[in-house]
Amino acid sequence: MTAQADELKRAVSFAAVDRYVRAGTCIGLGTGSTARWAIVRVGERVALGDAIVVVPTSAATERECRELGIPLAALGEREIDVAIDGADEVAADWSLTKGGGGALFREKAVALAAGTFVVVVTPEKLVARLGAFATPVEVVPFTLRIVARAIEAAHPEARVRRRGGESAPFVTDNGNAILDCSFGPIDDPLALDVSLRAIHGVVATGLFPSALTSAVLVAESGGVRALGEPHARRT
Ligand code: A5P
Repeated sequence: MTAQADELKRAVSFAAVDRYVRAGTCIGLGTGSTARWAIVRVGERVALGDAIVVVPTSAATERECRELGIPLAALGEREIDVAIDGADEVAADWSLTKGGGGALFREKAVALAAGTFVVVVTPEKLVARLGAFATPVEVVPFTLRIVARAIEAAHPEARVRRRGGESAPFVTDNGNAILDCSFGPIDDPLALDVSLRAIHGVVATGLFPSALTSAVLVAESGGVRALGEPHARRT
């Protein structure tokens, strides 16, 4: 990653924390190279005395929060006012592909529990339709082979790849495996998510329905802009 790209990630995550995080609240913090800057900003706020409690979306985010002295809460312990997270793709309707870092299950759990879900991205993540980025599907390892076969049978256009290769499979924080599935352009992310989750052994997919997203912030060379009007969560 270039220093310029990292600077955009920093700018958009700092803007999200400054605009959406109020002192005295519990928030969700995402995973990845963009969201890590939100952790840094929250760490600064906590160091200055703001009472902010974080529900982390991964073991990596939890570790970074601990290092910065950010108080943590478990999911369900406190109401989550806002969650801030990155994305691999943001479609025109604000549906998302997430899980490039493998944290999709916890990221979706935290987004679903939050009153407001703010997505922070750099411009190359914006797409007309999802699908150029392979869809991560989290699978119980015992069922990995039959789930891969079931996905390819139900979606003949899909190409299934095991994250990490055969020798050292990727293991999620939940002890599961990931199948990266290329479906081509995805017309209806919600319907695809539902059909994949109907396969026994699939835990979650990285397809986030548009109704989950409350706001999208994009960092550009001229500054950070909000994509359209923020709206209340619709799920
Ligand atoms: C982690 O599992 C992902 O969902 C990330 O939020 C997503 O991959 C974006 O990551 P970057 O900000 O590193 O591109």
